[in-house]
Amino acid sequence: MFKVSIYGAGFVGAAAAQNLALSQIANVVLIDIDGGVAAGKSLDLLQTGPVLNHSASLIGGADYEATRDSHIVVITAGIARKPGMTREDLLRINSTIVSSVAREAYKLSPNAIFIVVTNPLDVMTSLVQMETGLPSNQVIGMAGVLDSARLESFIAEYLQVSPLDVRAMVLGGHGDLMVPLPRHASVKGVPVSELIPAEELNKMMQRTVNGGAEIVALLKTGSAYFAPGASVAAMVKSILLDERRLLPCSVKPHGEYGLSDVYVGLPCIIGKNGLEKIVQLQLTAEEQEALRVSAESIKTNTTQALSLLKPPVPTTAAPTEEEPSKAAEPVKADSGTAK
Ligand SMILES: NC(=O)c1ccc[n+]([C@@H]2O[C@H](COP(=O)([O-])OP(=O)(O)OC[C@H]3O[C@@H](n4cnc5c(N)ncnc54)[C@H](O)[C@@H]3O)[C@@H](O)[C@H]2O)c1
Repeated sequence: MFKVSIYGAGFVGAAAAQNLALSQIANVVLIDIDGGVAAGKSLDLLQTGPVLNHSASLIGGADYEATRDSHIVVITAGIARKPGMTREDLLRINSTIVSSVAREAYKLSPNAIFIVVTNPLDVMTSLVQMETGLPSNQVIGMAGVLDSARLESFIAEYLQVSPLDVRAMVLGGHGDLMVPLPRHASVKGVPVSELIPAEELNKMMQRTVNGGAEIVALLKTGSAYFAPGASVAAMVKSILLDERRLLPCSVKPHGEYGLSDVYVGLPCIIGKNGLEKIVQLQLTAEEQEALRVSAESIKTNTTQALSLLKPPVPTTAAPTEEEPSKAAEPVKADSGTAK
């Protein structure tokens, strides 16, 4: 059985663990700075086995040693923004947490494929690659699967068709500058532009861009976790079973789409080596420009994240595979700030 370790046993981490247990493809280790939370949630999930008919092993705690020799490491550790906290404060804290977790996780599982979830997603994915020094195909961010699923759900709901028959693609950064691609959305191969008026489609794309914020506003505390957890599990499955699914993920291009030195959402084949291939779509000039602007914004934020980490590191936007940066010393976040 494969071994997947999830660092951060919060809402998203637990939802991912549940999906993985149910799919029976991996044993799961949940790690959290609050070891009791990780142990409690894994025990609770283990006890779904007899009811839901799975036999996955689930263990949890604060001791990283339990993750040794993982096939996949998922990083959801971090804190949410609290009242009075600036965007910069959040960036500094999550950068420090994610860099520290990545460095320690890598020591125990140097051959693992890392899937990053913590926000700001594309920046954090970049930091994980720098901190681990892994080849970029082994470090992938989860965002496009979720953003695309949101758009697919809206299309299915509008047309009253099964979401199974809807396919859509959202590229770019995981934020206000994401790039939904309506031209590539279809229902069983029929372009949605033939089925949905342009004005309605535009509304769905805007709702997709605001998809996370819409849920935050409804929940009042916390953010989405069911669909994010399911999206992580879909990526894990594609890797472990070498499904070679075409999934939009945050990856580091080497010239594809005219981009390099940045992690950004692009269409990818995901298989046993992690990122197998970035798929080059024919974009319109407008789509290409939107992608470029999104990537530039991520580069700026990545540079800022690096400058906020202590001790200071060179402020290049992204590393080369040959020269991983070793940025900050491990810092544990106050677990009281995490919920
Ligand atoms: N990429 C995406 O599409 C996407 C979607 C949803 C959420 N997210 C992000 O995922 C992250 C997790 O979201 P959540 O709802 O599960 O949050 P959460 O607060 O429920 O969970 C975060 C967990 O991280 C733990 N943690 C903090 N510091 C740690 C450390 N140093 N080591 C180990 N664990 C540590 C906390 O104790 C907490 O249990 C957030 O950054 C959120 O913004 C991303």
